[in-house]
Amino acid sequence: MESDTTESQPGDWPDSDGTPADVPVLRVIYTSISRLQGPVLAEMRLIRDQAGRRNGPEGIRVALLFKSGYFVQWAEGPPAAVDQLLDRVAGDPRHHRLQVLHRSLGRRRLFRPWIGAIVQSDEPPAVMAARVQRMLKRPEQVATREPAEVWASLCSPPQPDMPRPGGAGLRVMLLSARGRHSFDLLRWVADHYRRPIVSRRFAAAADDVPDVASDYIDLPHDDMPGGLRLVAHARQSLAMGVAHAFLPDHGAVVIRLDGELERNRQLVDRLMGVCDQVQHRLPIVGLGSLNSGQDELARRVRDMGHEWLEATVPAGLVSEARHWACLTPVLSRLAAARSA
Ligand SMILES: Cc1cc2nc3c(=O)[nH]c(=O)nc-3n(C[C@H](O)[C@H](O)[C@H](O)COP(=O)(O)O)c2cc1C
Repeated sequence: MESDTTESQPGDWPDSDGTPADVPVLRVIYTSISRLQGPVLAEMRLIRDQAGRRNGPEGIRVALLFKSGYFVQWAEGPPAAVDQLLDRVAGDPRHHRLQVLHRSLGRRRLFRPWIGAIVQSDEPPAVMAARVQRMLKRPEQVATREPAEVWASLCSPPQPDMPRPGGAGLRVMLLSARGRHSFDLLRWVADHYRRPIVSRRFAAAADDVPDVASDYIDLPHDDMPGGLRLVAHARQSLAMGVAHAFLPDHGAVVIRLDGELERNRQLVDRLMGVCDQVQHRLPIVGLGSLNSGQDELARRVRDMGHEWLEATVPAGLVSEARHWACLTPVLSRLAAARSA
């Protein structure tokens, strides 16, 4: 997995073109079965380069995911161009059994000609096939849902023991102002509750932009009706189309703060930039000790029209367990407010 050492400054958008989302487009989601024999990442990069040449000029944006031997592609754009793309892709020998699951006219959610993702999963292809079949049997249900929801229920369905089917619980993005502390906390929570971690790798839109990883767990929790999906992201993913497409599906973003205020400022500003880009407001939770500059960060966030919540970790021995103990009451309040 890629380490999170590369920093881009607020205002850098290596992977997003920021075109407004107000013109209705055709949105299509299809699945197909891969015929790839060799390394998937290398082939995804080839497809990315082909898509990069064609999609942008034709006004098309896509998210392509590979999981359990399946491709899932979500494409948006002018109707004629999207249909031509489908015709072209259908004849590609790298996959077969292309089946369109969703087709609707509506608002754009993808902000970039290309998002590529590979999910590392030990889920057998038969389980993915069963999900596809269930959707094909209920076309009217799939047609009325937003593409992001269809995509999520195909590609990252909730664990079967989550309290509410369909992933209706609280979804929280976890970022850290330094290092990979968001991933460390997620791992601790996963170990503590014995929950499996799902790892995804998002392929960048160009060779000079690093790929990024994202891990998540699903957690049933007594104090959170509907349960919690906790998604750890690298800071770098805020510069990628994937964060822009999926940020609106999160109920909150938790920032694991650092003792160095400048790092916290940079991350908050970058996050505010993405929210602005996708025109979405959501609660931001500052998780850290009292010397992390919460007052200034709170002002910055509130000035931009977002809610700021604090999960203050008392001074002393600072451990993952302590961070989690301070964070859970805040998440419980958010979950309760959501289901009220
Ligand atoms: C799963 C999958 C997804 C693809 N997605 C795209 C895409 O979004 N845009 C695109 O131009 N080509 C995409 N391709 C590649 C096309 O099938 C085709 O090879 C490419 O567009 C070149 O077509 P041309 O030789 O007619 O120029 C995809 C291929 C596969 C297997």
